Amino acid sequence: MISLAVDNQMAKCKHKPRPSEQLFPDSQRDLFEKSYQEKLKEEKNRAVECLGMTFENDQKHRGHFLEKLREKLKDPEFRKIEGFPIGEDENILALSEPPYYTACPNPFIEDFIKQYGKPYDPETDNYRHEPFAADVSEGKNDPIYNAHSYHTKVPHKAIMRYILHYTEPGDVVFDGFCGTGMTGVAAQLCGDKTTVESLGYKVDKDGTICQQETEENGKSVWKPFSKLGERRAILNDLSPAATFIAYNYNTPLDVGRFEREARRILKEVEEEYGWMYDTIHTDGKTKGRINYTVWSDVFVCPECAEEVVFWKAKEPFYS
Ligand SMILES: C[S@@+](CC[C@H](N)C(=O)[O-])C[C@H]1O[C@@H](n2cnc3c(N)ncnc32)[C@H](O)[C@@H]1O
Repeated sequence: MISLAVDNQMAKCKHKPRPSEQLFPDSQRDLFEKSYQEKLKEEKNRAVECLGMTFENDQKHRGHFLEKLREKLKDPEFRKIEGFPIGEDENILALSEPPYYTACPNPFIEDFIKQYGKPYDPETDNYRHEPFAADVSEGKNDPIYNAHSYHTKVPHKAIMRYILHYTEPGDVVFDGFCGTGMTGVAAQLCGDKTTVESLGYKVDKDGTICQQETEENGKSVWKPFSKLGERRAILNDLSPAATFIAYNYNTPLDVGRFEREARRILKEVEEEYGWMYDTIHTDGKTKGRINYTVWSDVFVCPECAEEVVFWKAKEPFYS
């Protein structure tokens, strides 16, 4: 079993390119990058609070939890957990960002729950929610959804409806089969007014979320049912690839730097392999780029023995 605990930080851009910055070509972005690096340096030197502890700076914080994980990896009982990844300690440590993400069962989950969970006391518990009974239908075309594909992936907006129905801001939500971590994305976006409103709900100034209901007399009214605010997600999956994707889906990143790095890699790939996608047009001289290739079967009609090209035969239906 691979465990992953994600803190409640929205995967948002720390460095939005300012309008003036957008006027400059990529080659001159370094001018801005430097001031961003300075900002990062400042952040790195700031005190960090994590799981009830305060660290002088980010390096001390990271060092503390990496050391704890290193010690834990030496524990044979820990490694006996079913589904433990086959990997050297150093590789697991290199992939991990403890305490919130570990590329192995997460030994910090207990601390996370102690910090953020609410103890259950049957004497005082007053948690009452009717079962969520509405039909849920969400498209699979949201850019967040499409950022990384996965089998039977669930749109985060569908999950948000359940989380908003059953939980309060700050509550801990657990997904034991998280795949790409869409439950974590949903938990975080419960704090985003625009996304909550995109579900057809109304958000009042004090953060109360209302949904439209039809009363017995047929009148439509807005009824409060939840509160705006991030929830905290614990995400778990047997697959190390899944937890890695989930971690990246739920952790803030510098969008500008990511874009530049992605462009650099694409350019490199294009220079090395672009020739494979070159072709000559039917005029015999113009060079073109292959966008996609269609493979088709040729069937022989059992009645007349004519050849039927499958792709061509279906053209009238699709063109
Ligand atoms: C249907 S996928 C979940 C997709 C996810 N809802 C999303 O939106 O990306 C089911 C996941 O369960 C994981 N899984 C299967 N058996 C498991 C187990 N025993 N413990 C933990 N995870 C498991 C699989 O690796 C897979 O990623």
